[in-house]
Amino acid sequence: MSIENKKKGADVDKAAVLLQAGKLVGIPTETVYGLAANALNTKAVASIFTAKNRPTFDPLIIHVPSIKSALNYVKDIPPQLLILANAFMPGPLTLLLEKKAIISDLLTAGLPRVALRIPRHPLAQKLLQQIDFPLAAPSANPFGYISPTVADHVLAQLQKKVAYVLDGGPCKVGLESTIVGIDQGKVVVYRKGGLSIEKIEALIGDVQVKEHSSSNPAAPGMLKSHYAPSRPLRLLTSEDFKACVVKEKIAYLGFQTPKPGAKTSLLLSESGDLEVAAQNLFAYLRLLDQADIDGIIAELLPEKGLGRAINDRLKRAAV
Ligand code: TXA
Ligand code: MG
Repeated sequence: MSIENKKKGADVDKAAVLLQAGKLVGIPTETVYGLAANALNTKAVASIFTAKNRPTFDPLIIHVPSIKSALNYVKDIPPQLLILANAFMPGPLTLLLEKKAIISDLLTAGLPRVALRIPRHPLAQKLLQQIDFPLAAPSANPFGYISPTVADHVLAQLQKKVAYVLDGGPCKVGLESTIVGIDQGKVVVYRKGGLSIEKIEALIGDVQVKEHSSSNPAAPGMLKSHYAPSRPLRLLTSEDFKACVVKEKIAYLGFQTPKPGAKTSLLLSESGDLEVAAQNLFAYLRLLDQADIDGIIAELLPEKGLGRAINDRLKRAAV
């Protein structure tokens, strides 16, 4: 049996014991796989930053099984955010909430708010219900690289760093959670993600949406250079396409329609389904990153529904 096989499986009890002992475990969620540790164990939390090579100014998300358990770790949930919590938790939503003292400054990078999620994935739920501490878990990829959407993506890069990966199959959403908080009484979306802005606005009206910024550590989660494959990725403009695709080994990542001339062409959803495109995005970027090509040209998707979050990731991956 290979090391990979020993290190992954669907054994929730094993994952719980390892986490209790302060180890790192890859966990499935419906958005992307997380690199989890006991959020109340400072040493274990510190080891997440080391394993990911992540700067300690970039705070982590905690994962809990229910709204009731969330109240052990946050002071309260403001009314507008409670509407969202009741509608979309468990699910691909993360809320920024005033933390209680039990949550360390290391975990929040010194910020007064903690990011909190209730994953819907059945294995994540089972695990969280079995342990008596929250799980700190960023996406299980080295800092700045593409997020993992299957267990093997986690092992491909963090095999030596994790004690185990709980294998829950491919992620159903495929994009990280949408991060929402309140700033000066207004609801703000800090990161576009697997819960569309349309669904949020249908419940609570217009919200402010932060666009990514290139260098503003005061607004973590907003770092521009992210999700980056090692092959240069450029966004499609007709000039780029004419100049590159035909004469160089450039792959094309499109939505529905192939472009003639590209050596390698991948389509996120031929039927034009944005949810399917979201499921495929990170796995396709990884595939292209291993292909015999010099670069990638990507088409932006319609700026609606999950297309907004997909475009955000493509723009951040672009050089
Ligand atoms: O879907 C997800 O959210 C996945 C799964 C594993 O739950 N997690 C995830 O974590 O994407 P991570 O660490 O890769 O991204 C979380 C983002 C970071 O960019 C971080 O800067 C931001 O959330 N964040 C965390 N705490 C924050 C806070 N208190 N204020 C502002 N941003 C925060
Ligand atoms: Mg991440």
